[in-house]
Amino acid sequence: MGRISLTILCVFAGLLKFNPTFAEESEILELTSPLGKVKGSFLETRLGKKIYCFRGIRYAEAPVGQKRFQPAEPVKAWTDVFDASVEGPVCPQPDVAIMSEDCLRLNIYSNELPTKDKNVKKPVIVYFHPGGFYGGSGKSDRQGPEYLLDKEVLLVTVNYRIGSLGFMSSGDSLLPGNLGLKDQVIALRWIKNNIASFGGDPDCVTISGYSAGSWSVSLHLVSPMSKGLFHRAISMSGTAYYQKPLPKDQKNLATKQAEILGCPTDTVGNMLICLNTKTAEEFANSLSQFCEWHGDPILVWTPVIEPEVNGVERFLPDDPVKLLKEGNFAQVPYMTGFNKDEFGSVILLPIAEAKKGNNSFFEDWNTNWDHIAPISFLYERDTPRSKEISRELNKFYNHDKPVSLQNLQGMAHLYCDAVIAYSVHRFVNLLATATDIPLYYYHFMYQGRYSHVLDPETNEPYGISHHDEMMYIFYMKKFPFFKKDDPEIPTVERMTSIWEHFAKTGEPIPKNNELFKNVTWERFTSDKKRYLEINKEFSLKNGLINTERMELWDSLFPLEQSPKQ
Ligand SMILES: *[C@@H]1O[C@H](CO)[C@@H](O)[C@H](O)[C@H]1NC(C)=O
Ligand SMILES: *[C@@H]1O[C@H](CO)[C@@H](O)[C@H](O)[C@H]1NC(C)=O
Repeated sequence: MGRISLTILCVFAGLLKFNPTFAEESEILELTSPLGKVKGSFLETRLGKKIYCFRGIRYAEAPVGQKRFQPAEPVKAWTDVFDASVEGPVCPQPDVAIMSEDCLRLNIYSNELPTKDKNVKKPVIVYFHPGGFYGGSGKSDRQGPEYLLDKEVLLVTVNYRIGSLGFMSSGDSLLPGNLGLKDQVIALRWIKNNIASFGGDPDCVTISGYSAGSWSVSLHLVSPMSKGLFHRAISMSGTAYYQKPLPKDQKNLATKQAEILGCPTDTVGNMLICLNTKTAEEFANSLSQFCEWHGDPILVWTPVIEPEVNGVERFLPDDPVKLLKEGNFAQVPYMTGFNKDEFGSVILLPIAEAKKGNNSFFEDWNTNWDHIAPISFLYERDTPRSKEISRELNKFYNHDKPVSLQNLQGMAHLYCDAVIAYSVHRFVNLLATATDIPLYYYHFMYQGRYSHVLDPETNEPYGISHHDEMMYIFYMKKFPFFKKDDPEIPTVERMTSIWEHFAKTGEPIPKNNELFKNVTWERFTSDKKRYLEINKEFSLKNGLINTERMELWDSLFPLEQSPKQ
């Protein structure tokens, strides 16, 4: 690694030395990384520390032209100054301002930079954003560093290709798949080689992610490409070890994409030649056509098990469940969990429509359950087994009664379990059986004043929704910036402390800590199933979360066919 030099040129230095609020306008931040000079900008943490921000740094060459649908190439060194003082573009998706295929960018936030006289090595936290593998980005509007950077960590947020451009796969050498996940690996390699210049410790990297990002983390664990690139892992709300085995290709989606854009589908080669002539916008704007029933399935593209192709690195060479069971994975401390009401809010629209006299959701569910349930709840379709599963789910969650305004709570639970909770439950149990690495399980139950989902009738938060706990770790611009006496602050303090302590030590809660009222977060093991309930106060619980619901899913989706059925 090259000599690290740092220049902070204070334009009005005398005037502004100790006044970070004016920093943004008045100072120029320039840093020399092994690949070239980078220009940054400043933010300030909640408690008034300066944050050195480098946003939109290109970590891979733009995957455009003949490089579209190809694994990303690491960025080459540059000679002029890379302007990382503003956000970079986000990957193609509908309804965003600055979108480009040249989106393989990352944001770095550091609260201390190394100087000639002082080496700085903060634990690095890498965050892979949510968005169902078809939306989202690592930008600071949703991943603002202002809370977390009060702690002694360095944060990196990462864009990766999404939708067809990131996850189309044909199961053969033309399109082996997982491009978006391979982008993440290129980013992790970039971090390993370059993060020291920004004050990060390349030998202490925590990968974290939410939802699709959380799925990603759960696969980096078993990926041969990710080996040695991280030292701890955090999966929040979702894993790839869900009720459906990962497929070997998603040719059906490739064909659908080709049809949407008027391309031939006779061979993969012809399809790709035509798709290569289409614009990023055309891909982005096709997203809604992948929905099959209202907004479902919530998850369209998934990672795939890749075929062997000469000269191509495989992110996922085998079924991740098998890799886990064989012990073939990174033995690193792991923290995972989910929220009380994940995706339960999907029932709010049916309620609102029903109150206007439109019962179409209920009618669909009640007349077409066997068709809709496998779409919405992500399991096999059009088989006798599929019908059996649909019947069992209807019996358990809806008590075999028609869904209606009076019989709707089961649907909220079903969305929560099918889309998020069961995948986390299955993963944590598989992991506990496969290894004795430290494993920490949580259930997030804290209801603050704000939420991603408001009940339209009361304007109050609808439970604890998907993404809600992230507002206590990152400053999300759609919510107020929490201030000293706000009731959310103790949760901000605790959540950011957990992330810091876990990133530093592999344990989430410091011992004898007043902030946590001395609660001990015991590990989850196969014979001692413990989890932390995160509420206004924290408490250790014994057993499984929503036991009966999870037992049903375990019985409907056994990992091994039992000898007698
Ligand atoms: C009922 O609601 C659904 C979902 O909002 C909508 O697509 C449909 O057009 C509505 N039907 C009527 C008759 O208003
Ligand atoms: C936590 O432990 C410390 C040290 O043992 C003790 O002084 C303190 O009273 C405890 N706090 C609570 C809330 O139990």
